[in-house]
Amino acid sequence: MGRVSGKVALISGAARGMGAEHARLLVQEGAKVVIGDLLEAEGAALVEELGAENAAFVRLDVTDYGQWETAVQVAVDTFGRLDVLVNNAGIANFALIEDYTLEQWRQIIDINLNGVFYGLKAAIPALKESGAASVINISSTAGLKGVPALPGYTAAKFGVRGLSKEAALDLGRYNIRVNSVHPGNIRTPMTDGLGVDQSRVALGRMGESLELSNLILFLASDESSFSTGAEFVADGGETAGLAAPVE
Ligand SMILES: NC(=O)c1ccc[n+]([C@@H]2O[C@H](COP(=O)([O-])OP(=O)(O)OC[C@H]3O[C@@H](n4cnc5c(N)ncnc54)[C@H](O)[C@@H]3O)[C@@H](O)[C@H]2O)c1
Repeated sequence: MGRVSGKVALISGAARGMGAEHARLLVQEGAKVVIGDLLEAEGAALVEELGAENAAFVRLDVTDYGQWETAVQVAVDTFGRLDVLVNNAGIANFALIEDYTLEQWRQIIDINLNGVFYGLKAAIPALKESGAASVINISSTAGLKGVPALPGYTAAKFGVRGLSKEAALDLGRYNIRVNSVHPGNIRTPMTDGLGVDQSRVALGRMGESLELSNLILFLASDESSFSTGAEFVADGGETAGLAAPVE
């Protein structure tokens, strides 16, 4: 018996990176997973890896509410129900605030914040039917503290953290739990080539996707049944403060 046996999860942005690793671990622990992403080839390859009896792909642009409604329908039609929503899709764009363009701002708010609200809203009717549902909104350490040259990203991730708390209050009556997850710097295509310096972070290294997937598994499962409206941090100690340089 897996830790999420019988549950059906919809994960946005799951064709690669952390979302793909979450899909792998949830399937390994007994869940059925719907992978929603723009990347059709990567999504199809992941379904093949996981098996069509365990996973399905749906093309999903999180900025399009209609596509969210379709994705929820695919979960219900294919696997019979929806218990877990992981709002994971996201992008990063960089510039000092004085150089940050309106286009950069609009794009990131649309994907990283509006996309989370749309997903949550579209999933509520199906999640109400679950009886024990979990919404996991992927924020960041940039949703807990300011990060330079990331104005839109930081604003959106703070927004995701606030929205998660509000939704937890409104949806507790249906036993729908809503939590935010705050990864530090994780090795994925998003951080490829960024040259992230972790020398002043307590653990002194970047994280691996699986180290976040283990947290997602806990939040998706009934093991976290009394946790809602809360922040779950996995950041190697980044938000604890600056560690002394190792000689
Ligand atoms: N990698 C890190 O260090 C880090 C740290 C903190 C938070 N996060 C967050 O974790 C989440 C996953 O990031 P990752 O590092 O795995 O990045 P990634 O770039 O590897 O994966 C992001 C996925 O989202 C998809 N996506 C982008 N725009 C989309 C859209 N409009 N509609 C649907 N899908 C879309 C991409 O196609 C991709 O598959 C993001 O929300 C990111 O902000 C990442």
